[in-house]
Amino acid sequence: MSSRWISKRAGTFEASGIRKVFDLAAAIPNPINLSIGQPDFDAPEEARRAMIEAINTKKSGYTPTQGLAALRDELQKRIDVKYQHADRKVFIASGTSGALALALLVAVDPGDEVIFFDPYFVMYDALVRMTGGVPVPVSTYPNFHYDINVLEAAMTPKTKVIILNSPANPTGKVASRDEVKAIAGLAAKHNILLISDEIYRTFCFKEFTSPAEFNPQTLVMDGFSKSHGLPGWRVGIVHGQAEFIEQMLKFQQYTFVCAPHVGQYGALASLDVEMKEQIESYRKRAMMLYNALKDDYDVVPPEGAFYMFPKAPWGTATEFVEKAIKKYEMLIIPGGVFSTRDTHFRISYSATEATIERGIEAFKKLVKDR
Ligand SMILES: Cc1ncc(COP(=O)(O)O)c(C=O)c1O
Repeated sequence: MSSRWISKRAGTFEASGIRKVFDLAAAIPNPINLSIGQPDFDAPEEARRAMIEAINTKKSGYTPTQGLAALRDELQKRIDVKYQHADRKVFIASGTSGALALALLVAVDPGDEVIFFDPYFVMYDALVRMTGGVPVPVSTYPNFHYDINVLEAAMTPKTKVIILNSPANPTGKVASRDEVKAIAGLAAKHNILLISDEIYRTFCFKEFTSPAEFNPQTLVMDGFSKSHGLPGWRVGIVHGQAEFIEQMLKFQQYTFVCAPHVGQYGALASLDVEMKEQIESYRKRAMMLYNALKDDYDVVPPEGAFYMFPKAPWGTATEFVEKAIKKYEMLIIPGGVFSTRDTHFRISYSATEATIERGIEAFKKLVKDR
């Protein structure tokens, strides 16, 4: 292969550092795996049955670009009741990642700046570069609060988009109602597109607020990957202003075409399945881990998603994580993967209580390994 074949665009970002952790861990037969970015519960039985039925009744063709009418209509009804925005339209994307890619393809011209909060979901930085934009990470260290003054200071005439992710990956932080209102107001005042990535909306241990409540122009990204344990079926939800949604659909038509047909039946069957028990179990695991670590580690209390983001008690995060993997066979992710800083590390508590207990033991020893 010739390097001539590879675009300059491809050189603007690296493969995710999470892969490096998995490579290091490949030889460990029974690791303490606290690195998983998906629910550890299976898709609801209703969803599995609906998907089997869809396969058996030959639902293998394309769906309309915007998604199955039954799923879309039901979601549209619920969104209309909740927001009462005359102009808010929904469609089904190929996962929330697909939705993010389409949104940035529509919004970003070369050189446009896209603000997101640091630490951030890895894909934001890569997608902004992929679409020719300039990533502008805004620090939320050390407590991961969203400071409106810091946000406003990062804005320039080139700022085109702000991405808010609450509950957040990797910090587990949930933005307060006041913070959300302030961010929504600032985006409206400066006519900046606000993308709200709400994929962890149901994994919330305090009140959840969407900026779309305050700013009707907000583009909301949601989906079934986390809420209903369907990540492999690639069903995302997007809703926002009709004109912007039309543009996203144009890009979907020429890229993903549609979300997987069978997965959309699974999503439809999931809509009314109660997930309270699963969320409660995550809250329990979060508190179990937090209470065990809080005396030895600088860690912000978990509020949602299924992550915590403590500070490494010694060394860089990379050094700390290497020790965790090599000496204790524990998989965690160094913060540099999600941040401009390499000081913290991500723990996922989407793992069994037994695994978390093994992890706690390892963390207690690790802190003394400096
Ligand atoms: C914050 C955030 N947004 C979006 C996604 C992507 O979700 P999907 O699997 O639906 O593409 C993830 C997955 O980890 C995530 O953590």
